[in-house]
Amino acid sequence: MKILEGKTAIITGASKGIGRGIAETFVKHGCNVAFTFLSSVEKGKQVEEELAGGDVKVKGYRSDASDMAQAEKLIEDVLADFGQIDIVINNAGITRDNLLMRMGEDDFNEVLRINLNSVFNMTKAVQRTFLKQRSGSIINISSVVGVKGNAGQANYAASKAGAIGFTKSVALELGSRNIRCNAIAPGFIETEMTAVLDEKTVQGWRDAIPLKRGGSPEDVANACLFLASDMSGYITGQVLNVDGGMLT
Ligand SMILES: NC(=O)c1ccc[n+]([C@@H]2O[C@H](COP(=O)([O-])OP(=O)(O)OC[C@H]3O[C@@H](n4cnc5c(N)ncnc54)[C@H](OP(=O)(O)O)[C@@H]3O)[C@@H](O)[C@H]2O)c1
Repeated sequence: MKILEGKTAIITGASKGIGRGIAETFVKHGCNVAFTFLSSVEKGKQVEEELAGGDVKVKGYRSDASDMAQAEKLIEDVLADFGQIDIVINNAGITRDNLLMRMGEDDFNEVLRINLNSVFNMTKAVQRTFLKQRSGSIINISSVVGVKGNAGQANYAASKAGAIGFTKSVALELGSRNIRCNAIAPGFIETEMTAVLDEKTVQGWRDAIPLKRGGSPEDVANACLFLASDMSGYITGQVLNVDGGMLT
């Protein structure tokens, strides 16, 4: 059985990494996928080409999730193209790491704007659609760093902790309309980005994780699959750590 058959999802930031992994998994499970990218235009087109052509509809949109007007336009466009939206995955995110001593105001504001305002923008923009149909699943990709904090990532940790507070509040506000909102807190997930890091350092990180490996985009995607599907119909306002036991 295809778990998401007949459903349509919007995934922000799926030109690479975890977002791309989520898009691939959702397509495999019968979901129509609308995804966004911002600067990686070529990669975005490639993802669309690779995933389209099967039984489901897949379309990429260049859209800045941190801009409210663009988020609203995206929802309009996806409704026009797909006819429905059942799932929103707020995955787009960036880091601008530095010790607080060296962190500029711009580095703080930009990370908050892209990682947290984007979650507000997309949720607000899709709210009316979900209220009308009396169903919807929103999944916000936070981070273990938002749960625990991390030296050198005060801006990123604040944005990801903010996403958790936002998730819980939306779950409380919209639960009576059968709209669910959950967060996923990935630990160390190995993507193209981490492939360029020093292997010895990365091995040290792997060794410190109870399951003795970094996670894959597919590990996060499988958690999204569960939270997006009707199998999690009685779960809302939760934070699911996908971290190999890192925070345990
Ligand atoms: N990798 C990890 O270990 C890890 C751990 C915990 C949490 N996370 C979270 O998981 C999410 C994905 O991370 P990743 O490692 O897959 O990162 P990534 O490989 O850098 O991918 C980030 C994606 O977000 C998109 N994006 C960035 N700014 C955007 C904007 N303003 N509007 C729309 N899209 C935008 C990028 O598109 P363009 O390139 O086109 O701009 C890209 O597709 C992030 O929220 C991150 O904080 C990652």
